[in-house]
Amino acid sequence: MVVGNWKMNPQTLLEAKKLALAVKLSTRLMRKTQIVFCPPIVYVSPLAPVATNNFILGCQDAFYEPSGSFTGEVSVTQLHQFKVGFVIVGHSERRKKGETEETITKKVKATVAQGLTAIVCVGEDKRDASGEYLGHIKDQILSALKDTTKKYVDHIVIAYEPVWAVGGAKAMGSREVHEMAIFIRKVLRDLYGVAGDSIRILYGGAVNPTNAPEIISSGFIQGLLVGRESLKAKSFVDIIKSVDALPL
Ligand code: PGA
Repeated sequence: MVVGNWKMNPQTLLEAKKLALAVKLSTRLMRKTQIVFCPPIVYVSPLAPVATNNFILGCQDAFYEPSGSFTGEVSVTQLHQFKVGFVIVGHSERRKKGETEETITKKVKATVAQGLTAIVCVGEDKRDASGEYLGHIKDQILSALKDTTKKYVDHIVIAYEPVWAVGGAKAMGSREVHEMAIFIRKVLRDLYGVAGDSIRILYGGAVNPTNAPEIISSGFIQGLLVGRESLKAKSFVDIIKSVDALPL
């Protein structure tokens, strides 16, 4: 799968529609790769008619309570009616703004309970020679999935995004991505047993059309989470093509 996280872009609905339609048109014959696009919340409703079974609407966040006095929040239940299939939870840019592990746990639980899929973002701020970052990733995963039982494995995706690569100039090398993917897979196995194998692991952080083929073919991952390059239709489509070209 390939997920496009548009963040707080583009500035107008017209541009948002153009971007979504351009990607949809160029990828309509691709059947192997699931494409998810996550526009700002304000564009979700007008873009709902553009979405299909394989070009799926996602959101960049959602609140866990179904309704109530929560100024500025939007609930998973509300998103459901606009054909939203995925919710990004715990993105590093939200964690930086104070999103806690406890909130992330609740958001994952609420998302899967509504039948949507949670794209749970994890990643270390920096790497240390003693490997403490591995414990950090494990803690983030276990905490996010703490209240989500095995029966929801098909509704969980883990996006591994080293914080230093997100918005940065350089993606992580495919060998390191591979190592992390093996580590994350083990954490998921220990948590859910063989059922954990159906959870998809994505890599995100400075993915572009040049590095995507290498990361996806040697990274032992099942997809990519793309930020900046998902705002350029041609780049995003090229990234999707490199994923779709892989043998199943
Ligand atoms: P980037 O962002 O591709 O612009 O580095 C990735 C992300 O935030 O998911």
